[in-house]
Amino acid sequence: MEARGAAGEVRPQEYLDRAVIFLGPPGAGKGTQAKVLAKQFGAPHLSTGDMLREHIEHGTSLGMQAQPIMSRGELVPDSLVLKMVAHRIERRDCIHGFVFDGFPRTVAQAQYLGQLLVEHGFPRPIVIHLVIDLPLLMKRLTGRRVCKVGGEIYNIFDRPPKVAGRCDNDGGELMQRVDDSEEVIAPRLSAYEKQTSPLVAYYKRLGLLHQIDAAKSVDEVKQQVLESVMSARRTH
Ligand code: AP5
Repeated sequence: MEARGAAGEVRPQEYLDRAVIFLGPPGAGKGTQAKVLAKQFGAPHLSTGDMLREHIEHGTSLGMQAQPIMSRGELVPDSLVLKMVAHRIERRDCIHGFVFDGFPRTVAQAQYLGQLLVEHGFPRPIVIHLVIDLPLLMKRLTGRRVCKVGGEIYNIFDRPPKVAGRCDNDGGELMQRVDDSEEVIAPRLSAYEKQTSPLVAYYKRLGLLHQIDAAKSVDEVKQQVLESVMSARRTH
């Protein structure tokens, strides 16, 4: 049963029980919203971008293969990403569901994920499509700063930290992602258009897509995401 708090806000059930997928172009707000939703349900937030950046930081073989590709703003090959994801969802914290951010990104990844979810006995996923016009994305991406410690996401234009360069939560240093430069943003957007946007039609055909206006404020988007997730769980 859906519960409502004193202020009338929707409160989620204890477990997510399935995968939630955030779909949308770079800068649409996938990471921002996926973190919030994951926290609300106590589910793991699985960002393939973060996982790959961690591999790069640790100098693993996967990281070394991914680094030049990511710095050009292209997609890392499915063969590398799929193994990484399959391995991650084997972990115990995924048993009650998880929130994907940046995965799947190609039709092949989506098909593979579909099989993986069936094998693990999960219901069909909930797909949240964050819809936004391209001109807004440049400001969001060039203004983004991320905490090196806890990964909290800021924006120097719209969501600045209280103290410049420091995270409000843990005082960690804020950094700018190397692929948030104007030269790399263009190929990232183009990779999205060519390789990821076909997933919108793919998931629509499967009846799993929930479209949300991502140009609204973080709180408004958050509320709509939660309502979509709650209604999808009631109907599927
Ligand atoms: P990844 O890390 O996934 O990056 P991305 O998809 O390009 O998305 P971003 O993280 O840039 O944006 P976002 O939508 O999460 O926005 P955010 O919430 O941060 O991938 C990086 C690279 O890794 C790829 O290019 C590829 O090479 C590789 N990769 C990753 N996954 C892969 C896969 N599955 N297959 C192959 N390759 C893969 O928000 C952005 C900014 O906007 C922030 O400053 C935030 O504060 C602000 N903001 C957010 N929401 C709002 C709002 N409602 N109003 C105002 N500001 C907002």
